Amino acid sequence: MSFISKLMDMVSSFSTHCAMDLGTANTLIYLKGEGIVLNEPSVVALERDTGRIIAVGREAKEYIGKTPPHISAIRPLKDGVIADFDVAKAMIKYFLNMVKETRKISKPKMVVCVPSGITQVEKKAVVDACFQVGIRDIHLLEEPMAAAIGAQLPIELPRGNMVCDIGGGTTEVAIISLSANAYSESLRVAGDEMDEAIVRHLQKKYQVAVGVNAAERIKMQVGSAYPGAASGSMNVVGKDLVNGIPKTIAVTADDVREAIEEPVEAIIDAVKRALEKLPPELVSDLKDSGMVLTGGGALLKGLDKRISERTSLEVHVPEDPLICVVMGSGRALEEIQRYKKVFIN
Ligand SMILES: Nc1ncnc2c1ncn2[C@@H]1O[C@H](COP(=O)(O)OP(=O)(O)OP(=O)(O)O)[C@@H](O)[C@H]1O
Ligand SMILES: [Mg+2]
Repeated sequence: MSFISKLMDMVSSFSTHCAMDLGTANTLIYLKGEGIVLNEPSVVALERDTGRIIAVGREAKEYIGKTPPHISAIRPLKDGVIADFDVAKAMIKYFLNMVKETRKISKPKMVVCVPSGITQVEKKAVVDACFQVGIRDIHLLEEPMAAAIGAQLPIELPRGNMVCDIGGGTTEVAIISLSANAYSESLRVAGDEMDEAIVRHLQKKYQVAVGVNAAERIKMQVGSAYPGAASGSMNVVGKDLVNGIPKTIAVTADDVREAIEEPVEAIIDAVKRALEKLPPELVSDLKDSGMVLTGGGALLKGLDKRISERTSLEVHVPEDPLICVVMGSGRALEEIQRYKKVFIN
């Protein structure tokens, strides 16, 4: 080994290894040897004129729809990719500093998850944002690959492993065999579209306006993708569109199922498209192993049953689908030699 490569190895052994799931809805950071050390909504509240940050993460999410004119609450990622570069950079820096408050982190080496359909320009934005906040060694990993590793699928085997990761901005469908994608599609329809569909539905049906945070709570509480998977109703206070005064409505499970039908159907179509495009050997593998649903959207009640009925595959939901991507990238980091083939160049 040359002197230079020995020196590089020494430097590398002093650096901190971490993995980040930079999601449209949530950002999670994993530290090698420790596990998940940060899990916060991807939201930044800042002063419009000065750009001064007022809140980041959970607190900033509460500001959405409630800010006075001089403050804006921004989600810097849209559809799984960076939409506001400066705000995304500020958010990553803030989150890294939060982690650094309680532990020493030097020269972070980072695995960052990106959607499988990401363009070169979008990839460059992620790398530049990380580089500009001091991360020196950046490895990109596609989200469905990370989700599959996190869900403990045997991705290295010559057989079909199917994963569908439904986040806030994107739904990623992939079939992985021999540590590579045999098929992948990144659909820009996921949880956010469901929230927006609920807002539109309540406006149309009850002439009441609600914010996207309220719509998300409705989706989580009484939302479902299969008749009978959710029941009852939830009282929601919105703004009467006729006279502007507060109005309480009882939103039923049927209302929400009807409201989100279009995005749910778009997700099922993406799953079916994947099966149609696969060679028969891989499809027959899936008959035995089924598919795994990850991401927050996997928690939508009855979605597993609905997909299963439409595809005649068994659909599995891991215990905590929201952390699969970051756990998978963490695992790839812990066993970097074993998983070296899965990173994007
Ligand atoms: N119980 C639930 N029922 C339905 N949807 C849920 C539930 N819990 C979370 N979600 C939704 O999951 C989404 C967030 O999931 P996740 O954190 O996996 O997304 P993300 O990784 O940030 O986004 P992306 O991967 O698209 O960039 C949100 O739209 C949220 O509303
Ligand atoms: Mg995600």
